[in-house]
Amino acid sequence: MSIEVVATRALLAERLDVVRSSGASVGFVPTMGYLHEGHGSLVDASVALTDLTVVSVFVNPLQFGAGEDLASYPRDLEADLELCGSRGASLLFHPGVEEVYPEGPVQPVVPVADVARPLEGERRPGHFAGVAEVVARLLRAVGPCRAFFGQKDFQQLQVVRRMVVDLGLPVDVVGCPTSREHDGLARSSRNVYLTGAERAAAPVLYRALQAGAAAVAVPDWDRAEVEAMMADMLAGEPTASTEYAVVVDPDTLLPVDHPTSGRDLRVLVACRFGRARLIDSLGVVAG
Ligand code: PAJ
Repeated sequence: MSIEVVATRALLAERLDVVRSSGASVGFVPTMGYLHEGHGSLVDASVALTDLTVVSVFVNPLQFGAGEDLASYPRDLEADLELCGSRGASLLFHPGVEEVYPEGPVQPVVPVADVARPLEGERRPGHFAGVAEVVARLLRAVGPCRAFFGQKDFQQLQVVRRMVVDLGLPVDVVGCPTSREHDGLARSSRNVYLTGAERAAAPVLYRALQAGAAAVAVPDWDRAEVEAMMADMLAGEPTASTEYAVVVDPDTLLPVDHPTSGRDLRVLVACRFGRARLIDSLGVVAG
C-alpha cells in the first residue's frame, strides 16, 4: 500500500480536510520513529478503528533532559515508512524541528496535571512538559481524530488523557496493550542499547511485574511487602539498577494505602541496564 510523506502542517491539513469532507474518520499514531512491532500494533488498532491513519515521526527535543539520548536516539525513516505502509497507514507526518517549533527554542506552556509529578516526573524533570507540548501541537496539526497511545508508557498515556480534557481538544484517546518479545520484554526503541548480557537479564522487569500483580490480586496484600518483593527480584540481576518498583492508583499514579478489593491498580517498574533506561507496567485488580 502506498504511503505519502508530509513534512508541513499546511499540507497535512490540506490532505485531512479532503478526507474529512468525504465523511471519513482520522486515526493518529504519534511516535519518535525507529518503529517496531509495538508501534505496529498501534497502527493496526488505528487502521481497524478509523478510515485513514496518520503516523507522525518526530524526535522531540523538548522532552529530552540534559545528558539523555537526544543526539543518539535511533532513526531509520526508510524502515519506518515500510512498516507504516505495510500496515495500512496512509500518511506519514515527518516535520522538521522548525515546523513544530517555528518560534525557535520554546518553554513548554501546555499545562501538565498532577499525574505528571510522581515516578517519571520526579526522575525526568521537564519530560512530561515536553511531551504534553509536542503532543498538543501534533494533535492541533491533525485536528479531530482518535489518537492511539501505548500502555507501555502508562504515565504518559495518563498525562495525555488529562491534557486532552484540560485543553478541550476534539480527540478520543485510545490506550493500547503493550506488545512484548517472546520472553516478556516490552518492545522499545531503546532496547537496541542493551548489550547481549543486559538483553538476557532485561525480562526480569516483566517477571517482577507479574509477581507483583499476582501478589496484589490476593486479599490482605501489603503494599510495602509487594514493592520490596519486586525490588528484591530486580536486585537479583546484577546488570539492573532499579529506580522504582511500585503499586499505585492508575489515575493519580500515587500509592493507595487501603485499596478496597476489586479496585483497579497499576504496578510499575523502571530500571537502568547500562545505557538503557527501561520502564514497564501491568494493570491489576486488587484482591
Ligand atoms: P515512542 O517512544 O516512539 O512511542 C510512540 C507510541 O508507541 C507511544 O504511545 C508508546 O507508548 C507506544 N509504544 C512504544 N512501545 C510500545 C509497545 N511495546 N507496545 C505498545 N505500544 C508501544 O512515546 C513517544 O514516542 C513520545 O513520547 C511521543 C508520544 C511520540 C511524543 O513525542
